Amino acid sequence: MRIFSGSSNKPLAKKIAKNIGLKLCPLEISIFPDGERRIRVEESVLGEDTVVVESTNTPVDTNYMELFLIIDALKRSGAKSVKVLIPYLGYQRQDHVFRDGEAVALEVIAKILENIGATEFFSFDLHTPKIPEIFTIPAHNLSALSIFAEKIKNDFNHDDLVLVSPDMGGIRRIKEVSENLDNLPYATIEKNRDLSTGDINDSQLNGDVRGKVALMVDDIISTGTTLVDGANLLIEQGVTKVFAFATHAILAGKATDNLQHSQIERVFVSDTIDIPKEKHFPKLEVLSVAQVVAKTLKS
Ligand code: R5P
Repeated sequence: MRIFSGSSNKPLAKKIAKNIGLKLCPLEISIFPDGERRIRVEESVLGEDTVVVESTNTPVDTNYMELFLIIDALKRSGAKSVKVLIPYLGYQRQDHVFRDGEAVALEVIAKILENIGATEFFSFDLHTPKIPEIFTIPAHNLSALSIFAEKIKNDFNHDDLVLVSPDMGGIRRIKEVSENLDNLPYATIEKNRDLSTGDINDSQLNGDVRGKVALMVDDIISTGTTLVDGANLLIEQGVTKVFAFATHAILAGKATDNLQHSQIERVFVSDTIDIPKEKHFPKLEVLSVAQVVAKTLKS
Protein backbone atom coordinates (compact mmCIF):
# COMPACT_ATOMS: atom_id res chain seq x y z
CA MET A 1 0.00 0.00 0.00
CA ARG A 2 1.25 3.51 -0.87
CA ILE A 3 -0.01 6.51 1.10
CA PHE A 4 -0.10 10.02 -0.36
CA SER A 5 -1.13 13.27 1.23
CA GLY A 6 -2.48 16.51 -0.16
CA SER A 7 -1.58 19.80 1.53
CA SER A 8 -4.56 20.16 3.85
CA ASN A 9 -3.78 17.62 6.61
CA LYS A 10 -0.25 16.26 6.31
CA PRO A 11 0.20 15.82 10.09
CA LEU A 12 -2.69 13.33 10.19
CA ALA A 13 -1.54 11.59 6.99
CA LYS A 14 1.95 11.16 8.53
CA LYS A 15 0.49 9.72 11.73
CA ILE A 16 -1.67 7.27 9.75
CA ALA A 17 1.31 6.12 7.71
CA LYS A 18 3.40 5.73 10.89
CA ASN A 19 0.66 3.68 12.55
CA ILE A 20 0.68 1.32 9.56
CA GLY A 21 4.49 1.17 9.58
CA LEU A 22 4.88 3.14 6.34
CA LYS A 23 6.17 6.54 5.22
CA LEU A 24 4.25 9.04 3.11
CA CYS A 25 5.12 8.73 -0.58
CA PRO A 26 6.53 11.86 -2.22
CA LEU A 27 4.22 14.00 -4.31
CA GLU A 28 5.20 17.12 -6.20
CA ILE A 29 2.61 19.82 -5.54
CA SER A 30 3.39 23.17 -7.11
CA ILE A 31 1.28 26.29 -7.35
CA PHE A 32 1.24 28.59 -10.38
CA PRO A 33 1.22 32.39 -9.76
CA ASP A 34 -2.53 32.46 -10.48
CA GLY A 35 -3.21 29.83 -7.82
CA GLU A 36 -3.65 26.78 -10.10
CA ARG A 37 -2.21 23.58 -8.65
CA ARG A 38 0.05 21.17 -10.55
CA ILE A 39 0.50 17.62 -9.29
CA ARG A 40 3.08 14.99 -10.17
CA VAL A 41 3.54 11.51 -8.71
CA GLU A 42 7.28 11.12 -8.20
CA GLU A 43 7.62 7.34 -7.80
CA SER A 44 6.13 4.46 -9.77
CA VAL A 45 2.71 3.32 -8.54
CA LEU A 46 2.10 0.94 -11.44
CA GLY A 47 -0.17 -1.87 -10.24
CA GLU A 48 -0.13 -0.53 -6.64
CA ASP A 49 -2.94 0.00 -4.16
CA THR A 50 -2.83 3.65 -3.17
CA VAL A 51 -4.44 5.83 -0.49
CA VAL A 52 -4.84 9.62 -0.68
CA VAL A 53 -5.48 11.70 2.44
CA GLU A 54 -6.99 15.15 1.94
CA SER A 55 -9.38 17.04 4.21
CA THR A 56 -11.65 19.43 2.37
CA ASN A 57 -12.03 22.18 4.92
CA THR A 58 -11.12 25.82 4.10
CA PRO A 59 -9.96 26.57 1.42
CA VAL A 60 -12.61 24.02 0.46
CA ASP A 61 -12.59 24.32 -3.32
CA THR A 62 -8.79 24.50 -3.55
CA ASN A 63 -8.44 21.38 -1.41
CA TYR A 64 -11.02 19.54 -3.52
CA MET A 65 -9.28 20.52 -6.76
CA GLU A 66 -5.93 19.38 -5.36
CA LEU A 67 -7.47 16.04 -4.37
CA PHE A 68 -9.02 15.58 -7.83
CA LEU A 69 -5.64 16.20 -9.46
CA ILE A 70 -3.86 13.76 -7.12
CA ILE A 71 -6.39 11.03 -7.95
CA ASP A 72 -5.99 11.75 -11.66
CA ALA A 73 -2.19 11.65 -11.42
CA LEU A 74 -2.32 8.29 -9.61
CA LYS A 75 -4.73 6.77 -12.14
CA ARG A 76 -2.67 8.01 -15.09
CA SER A 77 0.43 6.55 -13.43
CA GLY A 78 -1.20 3.12 -13.40
CA ALA A 79 -2.29 2.75 -9.75
CA LYS A 80 -4.44 -0.38 -9.34
CA SER A 81 -6.73 1.28 -6.79
CA VAL A 82 -7.12 4.75 -5.30
CA LYS A 83 -8.72 4.81 -1.86
CA VAL A 84 -9.69 8.32 -0.88
CA LEU A 85 -9.74 9.37 2.77
CA ILE A 86 -11.39 12.75 3.25
CA PRO A 87 -11.30 13.01 7.06
CA TYR A 88 -13.48 16.13 6.97
CA LEU A 89 -15.80 16.10 3.96
CA GLY A 90 -16.50 19.61 2.71
CA TYR A 91 -20.01 20.31 1.36
CA GLN A 92 -21.48 17.45 3.40
CA ARG A 93 -24.15 19.67 4.93
CA GLN A 94 -25.52 20.30 1.41
CA ASP A 95 -26.61 16.68 0.94
CA HIS A 96 -30.17 17.31 -0.25
CA VAL A 97 -32.46 20.06 -1.52
CA PHE A 98 -33.53 22.19 1.46
CA ARG A 99 -35.33 24.82 -0.64
CA ASP A 100 -36.58 24.55 -4.25
CA GLY A 101 -33.96 25.51 -6.79
CA GLU A 102 -30.88 24.57 -4.73
CA ALA A 103 -27.93 22.52 -6.01
CA VAL A 104 -27.01 19.31 -4.16
CA ALA A 105 -23.32 20.04 -3.75
CA LEU A 106 -22.41 16.74 -2.14
CA GLU A 107 -23.80 14.73 -5.05
CA VAL A 108 -21.65 16.76 -7.43
CA ILE A 109 -18.56 15.94 -5.34
CA ALA A 110 -19.42 12.21 -5.26
CA LYS A 111 -19.91 12.12 -9.04
CA ILE A 112 -16.57 13.81 -9.68
CA LEU A 113 -14.69 11.49 -7.30
CA GLU A 114 -16.17 8.40 -8.94
CA ASN A 115 -15.70 9.62 -12.49
CA ILE A 116 -12.02 10.46 -12.05
CA GLY A 117 -11.25 7.04 -10.62
CA ALA A 118 -11.59 6.92 -6.83
CA THR A 119 -12.21 3.25 -6.00
CA GLU A 120 -13.19 3.52 -2.32
CA PHE A 121 -14.21 6.40 -0.06
CA PHE A 122 -13.59 6.94 3.67
CA SER A 123 -14.57 9.84 5.88
CA PHE A 124 -15.33 10.61 9.54
CA ASP A 125 -18.58 11.27 11.41
CA LEU A 126 -20.56 12.25 8.37
CA HIS A 127 -23.32 14.72 9.01
CA THR A 128 -26.01 12.15 8.18
CA PRO A 129 -25.58 8.37 8.06
CA LYS A 130 -27.20 8.30 4.60
CA ILE A 131 -24.28 10.11 2.93
CA PRO A 132 -22.42 6.88 1.98
CA GLU A 133 -25.50 5.90 -0.08
CA ILE A 134 -24.81 8.82 -2.44
CA PHE A 135 -21.71 6.93 -3.63
CA THR A 136 -21.72 3.91 -5.94
CA ILE A 137 -18.17 2.95 -4.90
CA PRO A 138 -17.72 1.41 -1.41
CA ALA A 139 -18.08 4.27 1.07
CA HIS A 140 -17.26 4.12 4.78
CA ASN A 141 -18.25 6.41 7.62
CA LEU A 142 -15.52 6.08 10.28
CA SER A 143 -16.00 7.67 13.70
CA ALA A 144 -14.11 9.59 16.36
CA LEU A 145 -16.85 8.79 18.88
CA SER A 146 -15.03 5.75 20.31
CA ILE A 147 -12.02 8.00 20.98
CA PHE A 148 -14.26 10.50 22.79
CA ALA A 149 -15.89 7.69 24.79
CA GLU A 150 -12.44 6.44 25.81
CA LYS A 151 -11.46 9.96 26.95
CA ILE A 152 -14.66 10.23 29.00
CA LYS A 153 -14.06 6.79 30.55
CA ASN A 154 -10.53 7.72 31.57
CA ASP A 155 -10.83 11.39 32.57
CA PHE A 156 -14.31 11.94 33.98
CA ASN A 157 -16.13 10.71 37.07
CA HIS A 158 -19.11 8.74 35.80
CA ASP A 159 -21.46 9.32 38.72
CA ASP A 160 -22.62 12.82 37.85
CA LEU A 161 -22.38 12.88 34.05
CA VAL A 162 -25.02 13.52 31.42
CA LEU A 163 -24.37 13.44 27.67
CA VAL A 164 -26.07 16.15 25.63
CA SER A 165 -26.72 16.39 21.92
CA PRO A 166 -26.77 20.10 21.08
CA ASP A 167 -29.25 19.44 18.25
CA MET A 168 -31.82 16.82 17.30
CA GLY A 169 -29.75 15.67 14.31
CA GLY A 170 -27.15 14.38 16.77
CA ILE A 171 -29.35 11.86 18.59
CA ARG A 172 -27.81 8.90 16.75
CA ARG A 173 -24.34 10.09 17.81
CA ILE A 174 -25.28 10.65 21.44
CA LYS A 175 -26.91 7.19 21.65
CA GLU A 176 -23.73 5.61 20.29
CA VAL A 177 -21.53 7.35 22.87
CA SER A 178 -24.02 6.45 25.61
CA GLU A 179 -23.89 2.76 24.59
CA ASN A 180 -20.10 2.92 24.66
CA LEU A 181 -20.31 4.20 28.24
CA ASP A 182 -22.66 1.63 29.82
CA ASN A 183 -25.78 3.58 28.81
CA LEU A 184 -24.81 6.88 30.37
CA PRO A 185 -27.95 9.08 30.49
CA TYR A 186 -28.41 11.70 27.80
CA ALA A 187 -30.44 14.82 27.07
CA THR A 188 -31.08 16.66 23.82
CA ILE A 189 -31.37 20.27 22.77
CA GLU A 190 -33.89 21.13 20.09
CA LYS A 191 -32.33 23.88 18.01
CA ASN A 192 -34.33 25.62 15.27
CA ARG A 193 -32.50 27.39 12.45
CA ASP A 194 -33.74 29.92 9.91
CA LEU A 195 -33.23 28.02 6.64
CA SER A 196 -32.31 31.10 4.61
CA THR A 197 -29.77 32.68 7.02
CA GLY A 198 -28.68 29.59 8.98
CA ASP A 199 -29.13 31.55 12.25
CA ILE A 200 -30.38 29.71 15.35
CA ASN A 201 -33.87 31.04 16.23
CA ASP A 202 -34.59 29.28 19.51
CA SER A 203 -33.56 26.24 21.55
CA GLN A 204 -35.16 24.03 24.18
CA LEU A 205 -33.83 21.24 26.37
CA ASN A 206 -35.34 17.74 26.69
CA GLY A 207 -34.05 15.66 29.62
CA ASP A 208 -32.87 15.89 33.20
CA VAL A 209 -29.56 17.72 33.66
CA ARG A 210 -29.86 19.60 36.97
CA GLY A 211 -26.82 19.20 39.25
CA LYS A 212 -24.89 17.19 36.64
CA VAL A 213 -21.75 17.69 34.56
CA ALA A 214 -22.84 17.98 30.92
CA LEU A 215 -20.81 16.58 28.03
CA MET A 216 -22.05 17.95 24.71
CA VAL A 217 -21.18 15.86 21.66
CA ASP A 218 -21.47 17.26 18.12
CA ASP A 219 -20.07 16.47 14.69
CA ILE A 220 -18.91 19.93 13.60
CA ILE A 221 -17.82 23.17 15.21
CA SER A 222 -18.18 25.88 12.63
CA THR A 223 -18.88 29.28 14.26
CA GLY A 224 -19.15 27.65 17.69
CA THR A 225 -22.64 29.13 18.20
CA THR A 226 -24.34 25.76 18.68
CA LEU A 227 -21.99 24.78 21.52
CA VAL A 228 -21.82 28.23 23.14
CA ASP A 229 -25.63 28.64 23.10
CA GLY A 230 -26.02 25.02 24.22
CA ALA A 231 -23.70 25.64 27.18
CA ASN A 232 -25.64 28.77 28.18
CA LEU A 233 -28.93 26.85 28.10
CA LEU A 234 -27.46 23.98 30.12
CA ILE A 235 -26.06 26.32 32.80
CA GLU A 236 -29.46 28.07 32.97
CA GLN A 237 -31.04 24.65 33.53
CA GLY A 238 -28.74 23.92 36.47
CA VAL A 239 -25.78 21.87 35.19
CA THR A 240 -22.63 22.39 37.25
CA LYS A 241 -20.08 22.27 34.41
CA VAL A 242 -20.11 21.87 30.63
CA PHE A 243 -17.53 20.15 28.42
CA ALA A 244 -17.76 19.81 24.64
CA PHE A 245 -16.65 17.13 22.17
CA ALA A 246 -16.80 17.58 18.38
CA THR A 247 -15.14 15.63 15.60
CA HIS A 248 -14.49 18.39 13.08
CA ALA A 249 -13.03 21.70 14.24
CA ILE A 250 -13.73 24.07 11.37
CA LEU A 251 -13.48 27.05 13.75
CA ALA A 252 -14.85 29.63 11.32
CA GLY A 253 -14.98 33.37 12.01
CA LYS A 254 -14.74 34.16 15.71
CA ALA A 255 -15.31 30.57 16.90
CA THR A 256 -11.97 30.42 18.72
CA ASP A 257 -12.68 33.54 20.79
CA ASN A 258 -16.30 32.64 21.38
CA LEU A 259 -15.44 29.17 22.68
CA GLN A 260 -12.52 30.35 24.83
CA HIS A 261 -14.74 32.96 26.51
CA SER A 262 -17.77 30.69 26.81
CA GLN A 263 -19.08 28.75 29.82
CA ILE A 264 -17.53 25.57 28.37
CA GLU A 265 -14.66 24.26 30.51
CA ARG A 266 -12.81 22.38 27.79
CA VAL A 267 -13.35 21.64 24.10
CA PHE A 268 -12.17 18.26 22.78
CA VAL A 269 -11.90 17.84 19.01
CA SER A 270 -10.23 15.38 16.64
CA ASP A 271 -7.51 15.99 14.06
CA THR A 272 -9.71 15.37 11.00
CA ILE A 273 -8.97 19.03 10.30
CA ASP A 274 -5.44 20.36 10.79
CA ILE A 275 -6.06 23.37 13.05
CA PRO A 276 -3.73 26.27 12.23
CA LYS A 277 -1.64 27.62 15.15
CA GLU A 278 -3.57 30.91 15.30
CA LYS A 279 -6.81 28.99 15.89
CA HIS A 280 -5.56 27.02 18.89
CA PHE A 281 -6.87 28.26 22.24
CA PRO A 282 -6.16 27.23 25.84
CA LYS A 283 -9.44 25.31 26.30
CA LEU A 284 -8.84 23.22 23.17
CA GLU A 285 -7.53 19.64 23.22
CA VAL A 286 -6.97 17.64 20.02
CA LEU A 287 -7.33 13.84 19.99
CA SER A 288 -6.03 11.88 16.99
CA VAL A 289 -8.07 9.57 14.76
CA ALA A 290 -4.93 8.14 13.13
CA GLN A 291 -5.24 4.77 14.86
CA VAL A 292 -8.85 4.36 13.72
CA VAL A 293 -7.80 4.91 10.09
CA ALA A 294 -4.71 2.70 10.36
CA LYS A 295 -6.79 -0.16 11.82
CA THR A 296 -9.36 0.19 9.01
CA LEU A 297 -6.79 0.33 6.22
CA LYS A 298 -4.83 -2.62 7.65
CA SER A 299 -7.95 -4.76 7.73
C1 R5P B 1 -25.54 21.12 12.63
O1 R5P B 1 -26.49 20.49 12.19
C2 R5P B 1 -24.24 20.49 13.02
O2 R5P B 1 -24.42 19.25 13.65
C3 R5P B 1 -23.46 21.42 13.94
O3 R5P B 1 -24.18 21.57 15.14
C4 R5P B 1 -23.27 22.76 13.30
O4 R5P B 1 -22.71 22.64 12.02
C5 R5P B 1 -22.38 23.64 14.15
O5 R5P B 1 -22.31 24.91 13.58
P1 R5P B 1 -21.94 26.18 14.44
O6 R5P B 1 -20.67 25.87 15.18
O7 R5P B 1 -21.78 27.28 13.45
O8 R5P B 1 -23.08 26.44 15.35
